[in-house]
Amino acid sequence: MTVARTVHREAFSSRTVFILAAIGSAVGLGNIWRYPYVAYSSGGGAFLIPYLVALLTAGIPLLFLDYALGHKFRGSPPLAFRRLSRWTEPFGWVQVLMCLAIATFYACVIAWAASYAWFSLTLAWGDDAEAFFAGTFLQQGEATMFGGLVPTVAIPLVLVWVVNIAIVAIGVERGIGRLNRFLLPLLIALFIGLVIRSLFLPGAMAGLDAFFTPNWAALGDPQVWIAAYGQIFFSLSVAFGAMLTYASHLKRRTNLTASGLVVGFSNSAFEVLAGIGVFAALGFLAAQSGVPVSEAAAGGPGLAFVAFPTLISQMPFGQIFGSLFFLTLVFAGITSLVSILQPPAMAISEKFGISHRAATLSVGTVAAIVSISIFPTTTGLNTLDVVDNWINNVLLVSNTLVMVVVVVWVVRKTPMLARHLNGVGSFKIGGWWTVCLGIVTPLILGWTATQSVITLLRDGYEDLPGALLATFGWGVVGGIVVLAVLMTFVPWRNEDHLAAGVDLDDPREEAEAARVDGPRRDSRSDDGRPHTPSKEDSE
Ligand code: PFF
Repeated sequence: MTVARTVHREAFSSRTVFILAAIGSAVGLGNIWRYPYVAYSSGGGAFLIPYLVALLTAGIPLLFLDYALGHKFRGSPPLAFRRLSRWTEPFGWVQVLMCLAIATFYACVIAWAASYAWFSLTLAWGDDAEAFFAGTFLQQGEATMFGGLVPTVAIPLVLVWVVNIAIVAIGVERGIGRLNRFLLPLLIALFIGLVIRSLFLPGAMAGLDAFFTPNWAALGDPQVWIAAYGQIFFSLSVAFGAMLTYASHLKRRTNLTASGLVVGFSNSAFEVLAGIGVFAALGFLAAQSGVPVSEAAAGGPGLAFVAFPTLISQMPFGQIFGSLFFLTLVFAGITSLVSILQPPAMAISEKFGISHRAATLSVGTVAAIVSISIFPTTTGLNTLDVVDNWINNVLLVSNTLVMVVVVVWVVRKTPMLARHLNGVGSFKIGGWWTVCLGIVTPLILGWTATQSVITLLRDGYEDLPGALLATFGWGVVGGIVVLAVLMTFVPWRNEDHLAAGVDLDDPREEAEAARVDGPRRDSRSDDGRPHTPSKEDSE
């Protein structure tokens, strides 16, 4: 007799561990180097207004949607969407493939940060941090399609991948849960320490002035609003499948909405704190070099890997400050990176009916090989910039736009999902949630997607060669969409188990779930039948 094999869904041991893991996912490189510069170049203090509006009208509503889909349908993005409505499965695959694409370059930035934590000890960049970053360290040459491998970057990158794959393979609670329980408090304590230290540097107040002085006129600029929404999506990890997957590992009776608010506001608090710390430090740098703060700041990689080394060299005990700063980047990055690998690993495990460990090893190894052959190369910096821009500004917004329209207006599942969220919640959501998801978010996303595509088609991107943009920009986006559709046609390994689904709307299911789960542990397998504890459970 063949017994249908059900992939066992491991649960986080408590809501606190889930919240720590979700904050760990949200707080990442996006908070520490991206937010300060985006905020600064998009209206300074006034940026807080579009940023908060974006958080409340899109960030939190989409976070609730991710939680509801993952928790109700108890699956990775493709499985959750398939259970929502059979033909929506490709949205899930796009999310999973976007995670893979992001993981390939995100890991590389963590590898840079790890190297810089080491370089800080000897101030290895000397007098010219810019020349060191692009030249000595990354060995960037011309912007060609493929460049030669740079071993000094490739070696730490291999290590980052080994750690990432190992943690995800160990499992949700013992791997991801434990990592976050340990690293997140450390990260927060270290970061608060660094921010306080920066506030006492000479010139810090001028930096804060530059950061907080509102440029009200910027509020009339649509680009500022686009930047605010873009920052919220990336920073909160919403609509990528990461939060959806984490929520699928939550016990059945969990207060989802309260958890969402804790995660959303903690992420933003960390982000504003990062802005304060980084600009206090830039104020110091500006004062030392006698230039206005606006000239001391550059965006993206430049901010963390050029401006910071320069100021580390100039401050007392800079070596220690520098090492700790780059270590916080590594910690923040790794707790996000595991959340980026978990959705693809889970999706492959569910689709092909293989164990989580085998799925993590295979999908992780493929991603690692791609990552190591493309990014630690003499042309890697440009490629990274292109993939990042196309994934975030073209594919994420378009996929999310079509997805929310389908969920709200075509399959019309928001009332059912709202009921699920309200099942266990300290407050009721409903009207505003549907309006945000069904009207505000699509309008903003529609506008953002159109603007990005038109601008990229018309102006290209940062004077980079067309072939590079065609391959790593449009090519990656197109490839992901085609692959997502193809994956939908690959049969699920365990059709019966899928068909069983989970119907928490059914009062008998709910009662049964409450009876079997008890207040403490999730003891049911995915097929909705009581799960007999086995050795696998204790893993
Ligand atoms: N939120 C992370 C950051 O701010 O760095 C990045 C991220 C994590 C994006 C997980 C997407 C994701 F699925």
